Amino acid sequence: MILIIDYGSQYNQLIARRVRECHVFCQIESPDIDVDAVRALNPEGIILSGGPSSIYEKESPKTDKAIFDLGIPILGICYGMHFMIDALGGTVKGAGKREYGFSELVINKTGGLFKGIDGKTECWMSHGDSVETLPQGFEITASTENTEIAAIIHNEKNLYGVQFHPEVEHTSQGKAMLENFLSEVCNCESGWTMKSFARDAITQIRETVGDKKVILGLSGGVDSSVTALLIHKAIGKHLTCIFVDNGLLRKNEARKLENTLRQHLDINIEFVNAAEAFLKALAGVTDPEEKRKIIGKIFMDVFEAEAKKIKDAEFLAQGTLYPDVIESVSAFGGPTAVIKSHHNVGGLPEKMKLRLVEPLKYLFKDEVRALGKEIGLEDELVWRQPFPGPGLGIRIIGEITEKRLSILREADAVLLEEIKKNGYYRKLWQSFAVLLPIKSVGIMGDQRTYENILAIRAVTSTDAMTADWARLPDDLLGIISNRIINEVKGVNRVVYDISSKPPSTIEWE
Ligand code: XMP
Repeated sequence: MILIIDYGSQYNQLIARRVRECHVFCQIESPDIDVDAVRALNPEGIILSGGPSSIYEKESPKTDKAIFDLGIPILGICYGMHFMIDALGGTVKGAGKREYGFSELVINKTGGLFKGIDGKTECWMSHGDSVETLPQGFEITASTENTEIAAIIHNEKNLYGVQFHPEVEHTSQGKAMLENFLSEVCNCESGWTMKSFARDAITQIRETVGDKKVILGLSGGVDSSVTALLIHKAIGKHLTCIFVDNGLLRKNEARKLENTLRQHLDINIEFVNAAEAFLKALAGVTDPEEKRKIIGKIFMDVFEAEAKKIKDAEFLAQGTLYPDVIESVSAFGGPTAVIKSHHNVGGLPEKMKLRLVEPLKYLFKDEVRALGKEIGLEDELVWRQPFPGPGLGIRIIGEITEKRLSILREADAVLLEEIKKNGYYRKLWQSFAVLLPIKSVGIMGDQRTYENILAIRAVTSTDAMTADWARLPDDLLGIISNRIINEVKGVNRVVYDISSKPPSTIEWE
């Protein structure tokens, strides 16, 4: 495995992606990881990421210098290289002018990182500081017009540094350089596949859980379904899943999910219909955050009551993914772990003295889908678009009533049917309908109508942190609009949301 130390670069997830693409496992840790913890992880190599700080600032993040004496190959990228230079006795200075964008990298020493790389190749720079003097034992392996020390090596100690960013696509041969670091420098074997991940995860779950019982909140989404199937493969009937129907699901969803999950996953599942409690508590509520709070609280109460019925449960399983974990360890990661509320059962583990099992916490979303496929989850579940915990509750702007729920359900069903039929479902991160709290005038037959407006939201994204509105074909939008206005009583106007995130968000509330 490769250890990535994260100094706050916007690209740190990309480094992890590139390493995984080479079928090598990697883990991201914060700069304050101590040297014993590094030794215990026993990585084949270490990558020090870039970051926004200047190494000569007092508060800049640093790691114990003893990592340079472990005999493990290390690659420092941008700030990571500055930290290496500073720690080993060289100097780094503000470069006077920032270098940002493409530069031509001229390689003067091939082999190692640069094995098989063209002598002149495009690289992507993004830095204000540069290395001024090298510590003893280092030599320059590549330069650009503005940056003489653009790549370095310490042959004896197997230390490498690059001023540019090999992890971004703009560095045309960057992926090959990282591959070289893994195979030529670290001698990593590229055997990490979803098959091996599944096998190891199952063994690890068995070892952690032993003969104790595990409970899991099933949402019907891909993350919790994959978690359930994986744990089920490890401990069988010692896993019990709880599915809470909050009355805010899409048309026929609860029934369909129950059928699919029961048929497909031979797992203990408790289905709890708590729609009445949710809808009663939400009556008259229009503020989005208040809706979320109410939905979260009732979910907790219902889930806890169900969980208590499972005797001897010692573990709570969650489908937490890697981006959530990275956000919480990142040196500059802002708010701590942003975990989706349908996974997030808040204080429950402490309250019920449960320990957490999070087998997906090192995976990205597309890897979870690949794992789901690998362990035999059916396509319908593997390819489900994300659906928020508060469900249709945050897609009805304003008050949630049975009538409005029913209008939104019907319209959403038409939208999804057309999106699927026309082959867009898997291409879109999410596609859904939103019911607005205003009415507009229309004409149907010879009658004046005064009915609801429905918005359609369809976005592309890789991680929901940013998203673009989908350029769906006019014809398809036309069919969807026609069908909704004709088939769904209570809607006489359909609009298409053409805002991206940021500055908008994916959901309207
Ligand atoms: P936004 O609207 O913030 O959404 O751009 C980003 C992603 O998160 C989902 N989302 C939620 N998921 N509980 C959830 O479980 C929530 O309260 C919630 N709000 C947004 C949203 O569907 C999108 O995929």
